[in-house]
Amino acid sequence: MMKFTAIANANIALVKYWGKRNKELILPQNSSISVTLDGLNAVTTVEFDDKYDKDIFILNGKEQTENELERVISTLNIVRDLANIQTKAKVSSNNNFPTAAGLASSAAGGAAIALAATKAAGLDFSKEKLSIIARRNSGSASRSVEGGFVEWLKGEKEDGSDSFGKQIAIEDHWPEFRIIATILTTKEKKIKSRVGMAKTVENCPYYKCWLASIDEDLDKVRKGILEKDFTTVGQIAEQNAIKLHALMFTTKPAIIYWLPETLKMVHLIPEWREQGLECYFTIDGGPQVKIICLEKDVEEIKKRLSDINEIKEIHVSKPGSAAKTIEEHLF
Ligand code: ADP
Ligand code: DP6
Repeated sequence: MMKFTAIANANIALVKYWGKRNKELILPQNSSISVTLDGLNAVTTVEFDDKYDKDIFILNGKEQTENELERVISTLNIVRDLANIQTKAKVSSNNNFPTAAGLASSAAGGAAIALAATKAAGLDFSKEKLSIIARRNSGSASRSVEGGFVEWLKGEKEDGSDSFGKQIAIEDHWPEFRIIATILTTKEKKIKSRVGMAKTVENCPYYKCWLASIDEDLDKVRKGILEKDFTTVGQIAEQNAIKLHALMFTTKPAIIYWLPETLKMVHLIPEWREQGLECYFTIDGGPQVKIICLEKDVEEIKKRLSDINEIKEIHVSKPGSAAKTIEEHLF
């Protein structure tokens, strides 16, 4: 049987990836660290069959063309080369959260297609190898193949064989760790991360400063995770996200994902902290604010969020598991 289905969770970076050193192989300028998010997932079915005369990609029930289809075809081509087959495929994927709105749908989707497509092509790869295939679909997807806390090693090699997601700690290592994603708008963003980060590398005058300070952020967050030092992880993650958005603001043309609601949250969260409620924020390529907190404070934070009219929905996630295959297919 050439049909397989995989489920992969999204992830949120605590130290961000922004910028490539090789666009074709999707090799990053810097390493990044994330937490895989339980419950925010992509489910993807891939079937290789001679009955298809071209590759088809259906995302959330809608047939895709152009860039979306191209990305899927490029992953299928990598897998076909490795399996030595020419067969065309049908790919269908559903995200259980908003797509292209800054909630890492590309990460969940990239990891799910890497696993489903390799399995459907008869290949059985290690997590490392799967992460490399996922990386070539979307950089952040390299981190969603693994569960828990993951570092995407930037690697040194030209061919990218040492650039993959490596687990720092399993999901049960820090079961109290929580990310609360607040959805402020479900509209798709205008500037895709891929396009935005290329512009930053090209012309942002502060990009060198970002690269010069990233290893310190990585070291502190990695150590903070291992020691379950919430204050360090939260502080560095929040500062790292602010630095990322400072890069975006100072790219030409400016990349401004923040909405008025985003700024409201950016002011509120430090105020809550001053009042003794320890939580931090992080923001990716979109307006959504993700709150980093511990389980003991989730109820209080939810209560406060319920008073903010601009919030459309929230998702509370604990560290989630690695990508895996499931029996139920989408078609
Ligand atoms: P996000 O912030 O949601 O990751 P991006 O702009 O970085 O947004 O990526 C969105 C793109 O990721 C989509 O246009 C599509 O090409 C791809 N994508 C999203 N979900 C999936 C999926 N389930 N399977 C494959 N590709 C997906
Ligand atoms: C801001 O992984 O979506 O979320 O590699 O071009 O597919 P491509 O980009 P993508 O970018 C993610 C950027 C980010 C930060 C992060 O997740 O580390």
